[in-house]
Amino acid sequence: MNRYHGRVVAITGAAQGLGLAMATRFAAEGATVALADVNEQALTGAARTIADAHDAQHRTDVVDVTDSAQVNDWITGVTADLGRLDVLVNNAGIIRDNRVEDITDDDWHAVIDVSLTGGFHCARAAFGPMKRQGYGRIVSFSSMSWRGNFGQTNYVAAKAGIVGMTRTLALEGARHGITANAIAPGLIETPMLASMNGPARDKLTNKIPMRHTGRPEDIAEAAAFLAGEAAGYITGIVLDVDGGISIGSSIR
Ligand SMILES: NC(=O)c1ccc[n+]([C@@H]2O[C@H](COP(=O)([O-])OP(=O)(O)OC[C@H]3O[C@@H](n4cnc5c(N)ncnc54)[C@H](O)[C@@H]3O)[C@@H](O)[C@H]2O)c1
Repeated sequence: MNRYHGRVVAITGAAQGLGLAMATRFAAEGATVALADVNEQALTGAARTIADAHDAQHRTDVVDVTDSAQVNDWITGVTADLGRLDVLVNNAGIIRDNRVEDITDDDWHAVIDVSLTGGFHCARAAFGPMKRQGYGRIVSFSSMSWRGNFGQTNYVAAKAGIVGMTRTLALEGARHGITANAIAPGLIETPMLASMNGPARDKLTNKIPMRHTGRPEDIAEAAAFLAGEAAGYITGIVLDVDGGISIGSSIR
């Protein structure tokens, strides 16, 4: 369990949910982890979790990924302080669901700004240090919704954008030892999913071939694989981690 020894892993939206699960997993595998989140209080709790569980070297920064200056300062600080940047996990994302005619300008921009533009800010900032060291892994968060989902025009646009961005980062990084891949989670038990109301949740759970939601650890497993040195020939893919829900219609 030491495959990330000597590696520096930077994760956005790391204070809770999938981000925290991934930070915990990378730390357990020996990485030095840099946790960034806009929620300072939750970030403090997350740092305690990491320290208690693994005594891992870590750093926390309050960063709003929609602000490119904050992102640039964060990446500069991480590389200066920790010596390198091996893995960037673009995880921060938000939802503001509504039917298209009820999505306000603010709902549109907020979701695109965090879930797509934030990922771009981080990838752009990380590319320089990764190129200089001739090594990098960028894992960005799409969603099963990227193919289209009722009531999520803003979120789907952002998550489909992540797929296009990932494929392009893969092309630009390929000659520099940098891979870029995306994870498309299905329904995973996090505070984001808890915000979905009961009946809508039950309806969706019934559509999962495995008939149960996923755990944050299922996503951490996928991220630890894609971000690993051994996955160096895999780039530009979208990895579905969703209990089979994206396969399509099922008569049973
Ligand atoms: N949970 C699921 O079922 C699911 C499914 C598909 C995709 N995803 C994606 O996975 C990622 C993580 O989801 P989650 O369920 O852990 O969500 P979550 O809401 O539990 O956690 C998201 C974290 O991002 C942080 N964040 C929000 N805006 C930010 C900003 N501007 N700058 C920095 N941090 C910010 C929040 O403070 C929070 O800690 C998201 O991109 C989400 O879209 C989740």
